[in-house]
Amino acid sequence: MLIAGNWKMNGLSADAEAQAKGLAADIGRAGGAKLLICPPATLIAPMARALADAGIGDRVALGGQDCHTAEKGAHTGDVSAWMLKDIGCSHVIVGHSERRIDHGESDDTVKAKAEAALEAGLIAIVCVGETEAQRQAEETELVLSHQLRGSMPSGATRENTVIAYEPVWAIGTGLTPSTEDVAAVHAHIGTVVADFFPDELRILYGGSVKPENAGSLMAVDGVDGALVGGASLKFEDFLAIAEASGAR
Ligand code: PGA
Repeated sequence: MLIAGNWKMNGLSADAEAQAKGLAADIGRAGGAKLLICPPATLIAPMARALADAGIGDRVALGGQDCHTAEKGAHTGDVSAWMLKDIGCSHVIVGHSERRIDHGESDDTVKAKAEAALEAGLIAIVCVGETEAQRQAEETELVLSHQLRGSMPSGATRENTVIAYEPVWAIGTGLTPSTEDVAAVHAHIGTVVADFFPDELRILYGGSVKPENAGSLMAVDGVDGALVGGASLKFEDFLAIAEASGAR
């Protein structure tokens, strides 16, 4: 199980220190779950230091929330996958719906970012998910097939790429799909990617994962972990989610 925290645009240095200390005090609760924190870019280095100081630098991995398609160059404000790798990241999230919506990122862009991540030696977490309107129109499977065909990096393997299924309507809303729906969608994603990749890829569920629902969501067939937004900001909740995932 991979339990990944997406801090989004939240957190200052003091929060990184508090998170590291809080996690370190009770890290045993996470059992065998692999923990990953994706803080804002400004906090990656402070978080790495704080985790190391707290003695859990090798227990919690770090990731970026986005990367540019290029290695370097005249792209004011952007961060490259190579830069993330350089400061100790192992993962990067690409194609989060907030990037797709706020920054108009297309499937092509997401694919290019994921390929940059692989080239830089990072594990790409490629996000896909349908909107509420698409769900109402019963287009979920169609939308996901399209997003996957368009955004997955060529050369994706079980080692270098993880898919995150995040229904847009479930993000930050407290709503989640039923466990039956999650099972069906994860099976669909598995079938689509099996068409073009030999490996069985890992699929995370994301969208309002909380300590209260993590046990049932993480027990669903085909769910290999969680991408957690709001609840990952509190170390107690993040640990409780990892504990509820039952990973030994
Ligand atoms: P949430 O966010 O857990 O706050 O719903 C999940 C995400 O956007 O990755």
